Amino acid sequence: MATRVKVLLDCDPGHDDAFAIIVASKFAEVLGVTTVAGNAPLDLTTKNARIVLDLCGSITPLHSGAGRPLVAEPIHAAYIHGESGMDGANFSAPSRPADGTDAVHFIIDTVRANPGVWLVPTGPLTNIALALRVAPDLVEKISGISLMGGGRFGNRTATAEFNIWCDPEAASAVFDSGAKIVMSGLHLTHQIMATPARIEMVRSAHAVVGPQLAGLLEFFSKMYKSLHDDFEGAPLHDVCAVLALTHPQFFGSSERHVAVEIDGAITRGMTVIDDRHVVSRAKANTKVLETIDSDAAFSLIVEAIRACPER
Ligand code: RIB
Ligand code: CA
Repeated sequence: MATRVKVLLDCDPGHDDAFAIIVASKFAEVLGVTTVAGNAPLDLTTKNARIVLDLCGSITPLHSGAGRPLVAEPIHAAYIHGESGMDGANFSAPSRPADGTDAVHFIIDTVRANPGVWLVPTGPLTNIALALRVAPDLVEKISGISLMGGGRFGNRTATAEFNIWCDPEAASAVFDSGAKIVMSGLHLTHQIMATPARIEMVRSAHAVVGPQLAGLLEFFSKMYKSLHDDFEGAPLHDVCAVLALTHPQFFGSSERHVAVEIDGAITRGMTVIDDRHVVSRAKANTKVLETIDSDAAFSLIVEAIRACPER
């Protein structure tokens, strides 16, 4: 059996974060999960992570982290994810508490003990930026950072994607850190939507978890379709950051320099991707994912759901 890629997830569950955790549990070696405020306040993203780890029968360590961005005021996304941060299904109470509240030092210690691990953030980059600030040696010890964030257009604003927009200072520090970055931006993640047919694939994939996850996607998609004029369903943004590492064959990409706008009155939180064909173009610091085989990717999501324990 091929060695599974080692990952450390940093997330803000969050409907699509939930699917990213399930997919990573199936196809990667998850050394730990850390949580950050984003889609919902930290107590809720952490509770939701506990719930999802139970769904996939994972006992990987869980540590909560930053409850607010480095500089920006905390803003959440109940308008998309609901008041719980993961509305749409009823779950049993989580079976275990988080293992700690110091995500930053958990990340640092885990990377130092496991050189070559990938950091996979799917929420605001606050924890990652703090870990790199406290321990700059991490840049050389990780294989890279596969993140969901940014893109060639925005969602929270015309130019800024939610994860980057929440904490632009953190995002800027991560993109400027020198670490190898793999970026699943919105122009990629909008290619894999939870269409009604795909939601039925999820529902029938597992006797217990299937209907619950289908309920999450129905809620998530209802919210997305109410806010957009041409969406068939909610994009499974965060899953892309995991599959980019476990199944790179399903992606097309380009190497680009990416920087984060901090000061723009209307562009704060924008990921500025340098596509110019000029010899003076800045050295690429990011693999920008451009295409995904969404049918193949969604089949992997269904396969991961099937692997959840019956309980
Ligand atoms: O903009 C989409 C991103 O913001 C996803 O990670 C979603 O979970 C939210 O955090
Ligand atoms: Ca997320």
